[in-house]
Amino acid sequence: MPYSSHLQSFMQHYRQRVNLALENHLRLMPAAELKLGEAMHYSLTGDGKRIRPILVYAAGMATGASEKLLDIPACAVEMIHAYSLIHDDLPAMDDDDLRRGRATCHKAFDEATAILAGDALQSLAFEILGDGSTPGLSGEQRLKMITQLATATGARGMTGGQAIDLAAVGNDLSLQQLEAMHSLKTGALIRASALLGGLCNPEISADELAMLDRYAHCIGLCFQIQDDILDVTSDTATLGKTQGSDQKLDKPTYPAILGLDAAGQRAREQHDQAIEHLAPLGEKADTLRWIADYIIERSF
Ligand code: IPE
Ligand code: IPE
Ligand code: MG
Ligand code: MG
Ligand code: MG
Repeated sequence: MPYSSHLQSFMQHYRQRVNLALENHLRLMPAAELKLGEAMHYSLTGDGKRIRPILVYAAGMATGASEKLLDIPACAVEMIHAYSLIHDDLPAMDDDDLRRGRATCHKAFDEATAILAGDALQSLAFEILGDGSTPGLSGEQRLKMITQLATATGARGMTGGQAIDLAAVGNDLSLQQLEAMHSLKTGALIRASALLGGLCNPEISADELAMLDRYAHCIGLCFQIQDDILDVTSDTATLGKTQGSDQKLDKPTYPAILGLDAAGQRAREQHDQAIEHLAPLGEKADTLRWIADYIIERSF
């Protein structure tokens, strides 16, 4: 069944909202007139799905956070994501030329600028989380969010997952190793997105945070399995990135290790588990349920 039309309008609304908030942060960059500022703008404002910010809003609102507090973590997770994509596409990593339907950052600018734009976007994410001049979030909440996002981004999260991904090329991975790699390289930031949304409610309980974490762990894995499947089954125009890139680089992926059917089944299992984890939240979690549906049904 197609994911709800409610989700489509939710996504459209919050995509616009976060895009505006991102533009506002970029405008404050003193480097705007340099190639660096231009490259940051280019990569952050590209035509992405904005699934991580959307998850911040949905998880936050499902657990009682006020909407206006969610803009900052929503921007922060998208900045980290944009940085991870710029570096992921570099010649030293996946060596891709196309991202979001246009040239990758190092192709549109140059490698050094792409490396720096990634670095600067990463720093900006933490700067906006720490900046106490925007009211509403306590110092304690900011600190928790910074710690959560730093852990998700670093060696015990996305960066660690990327290192395993690169080291695994040409080697056989067990299903368990593959799952651990995906949980880190993609799952960690998706988990952080849900948790940062939750942390915007200062009263959120440890149980509710743990529930968001379990849900997001499952959809994070599901998201990367679907990304791997689409690399095989979709086409470059639809994806906005080069189809078949994983196979060309002999990447360890779900379809490569399990085959397409079993990969799809594994994604479905993760989706179903994610939905089960949301049971205690009742109707409040409907948007999070639709997001899980979207992740498995998306075509790009
Ligand atoms: C691509 O992420 C990289 C992965 C972690 C699989 P997205 O599929 O969310 O990319 P955009 O932001 O929509 O371009
Ligand atoms: C990227 O995974 C994960 C991160 C950027 C952290 P992929 O290498 O599969 O992402 P795509 O397919 O290039 O978007
Ligand atoms: Mg990669
Ligand atoms: Mg890649
Ligand atoms: Mg991929």
